Amino acid sequence: MRVLVLAAGLGKRMKSRKPKVLHEILGKPMISWVLDTVRAAGVHEVGVVLGHGAEMVRGILDENVRIFIQSEQLGTAHAVMCAREFVDPDDEIMVLYGDVPLLRYTTLLSLVKVHEEEGNDVTLLSAFLNDPTGYGRVLRDTSGKVQGIVEEVDASPEQRNIREINTGIYVFKGSFLLEALGRIKNDNVQGEYYLTDAVSMASKVGAVVVEDVQEILGVNTRKQLAMVAKIARMRILEALMENGVTVEDPDTTYIGPEVRIGCDTIIKPMTIILGKTTIGENCVIGPFTTMVNCVCGNNVRVVRSECAGAVIEDDASVGPFSRLREGSYVCNGAKVGNYVEMKKARLGRNSKAQHLTYLGDAEVGEDANIGAGTITCNYDGYKKHRTIIEDGAFIGSNVSLVAPVRIGKGAIVGAGSVITEDVSPDALALGRARQIEKPGWAKKYREEREKDGHK
Ligand code: UD1
Ligand code: CA
Repeated sequence: MRVLVLAAGLGKRMKSRKPKVLHEILGKPMISWVLDTVRAAGVHEVGVVLGHGAEMVRGILDENVRIFIQSEQLGTAHAVMCAREFVDPDDEIMVLYGDVPLLRYTTLLSLVKVHEEEGNDVTLLSAFLNDPTGYGRVLRDTSGKVQGIVEEVDASPEQRNIREINTGIYVFKGSFLLEALGRIKNDNVQGEYYLTDAVSMASKVGAVVVEDVQEILGVNTRKQLAMVAKIARMRILEALMENGVTVEDPDTTYIGPEVRIGCDTIIKPMTIILGKTTIGENCVIGPFTTMVNCVCGNNVRVVRSECAGAVIEDDASVGPFSRLREGSYVCNGAKVGNYVEMKKARLGRNSKAQHLTYLGDAEVGEDANIGAGTITCNYDGYKKHRTIIEDGAFIGSNVSLVAPVRIGKGAIVGAGSVITEDVSPDALALGRARQIEKPGWAKKYREEREKDGHK
């Protein structure tokens, strides 16, 4: 079995500068939804027909997807002709659209099953719609056998009353398709080469009626994009809930298709979890939290925070109001509190950075305490440098650690210090002006001001 995805159309009604199939649903381009479904159905020989913005689309496709270019969009059969070399006379080929992202792989499998069992030349996926406007209609004879498909613009008024429509998804016998492509002409109202004409040329046609018509929704406008995205989102949330995840408010929760979440984890409202994020069991994520491409262990708490490319181990907590950027690593039981930013930084087991801190290009050992307002000064205007804080070190409040610098095991750094040199283990380091005191100075100052008539 091979699959050819048609995606050369302009998508004019999107009013976009980028190709339609690159518009994203939950952070994933529309065409990738289709290709992932194909992969889930176990098909690995995949071709894509591209036209408008082909180079942009190529950029997001796997190397093993074969690309065919249709530089002029002369119809669905013409698109397949552009990929003629992909059609193997000894193999079956399924045709899908790049702008129909909600198809389930199980539907593809049942289409293939019927096609093979019946030994058809072509088996199409049809649907019964209350409003079939715009679609090609399926014509059947009195015995129910499919005769062909008529496009709406070419249909008679009686044919337009038919509610069974062509979804545009088919499986063909390769040898039959090659032969049919040679015979399809463009003598119709639109002057296009219709792939649907192949159906009337076949001697053995089958049809599978899709049960859930949402699956075949196509995206032609931004409004449809939003509608399809909502359906995709609800499907994901329902599957999570079925697997023991609490989603407190599905209306405000956005979880991507590749996210994995363990049992008894609670997702609070206004939370967005995308990319290849994995979250363990018994966590509480949100409210007001975004996580992209993160890995969380079990019993993790993240509240009102932004995390991207971060690892948060078991029993650790983050937030509120913190930001973990690429390469943040929060070890078991560690605590990242409020207004903390981390980037390429590791916070060791049970260590704490509770308030107003920046840890960039830093490595913090176990059981260390990072005081409020600590900043790792990692950038000298040209290069980034590392800060190392060893196990058990205590960094007082409002300390600037000018990297490269190392704070030894168990050392204490006094509040307000600017540390430019390494600190030995167990030492106390102070890098601040010594305090001076002038007895009575303030009182004298006030008396002099008031004598002059100032208040
Ligand atoms: C087609 C079917 C119609 C069916 C409908 C379902 C034909 C003649 N008609 O309608 O029976 O009900 O799909 O949506 O096949 N494409 C190309 N190159 C082209 C033309 C189209 O790649 O030259 C791609 C488009 O990008 C799109 C898909 O094929 O993804 C369908 O094209 P569209 O124009 O929407 O379909 P219709 O021809 O209107
Ligand atoms: Ca269409």
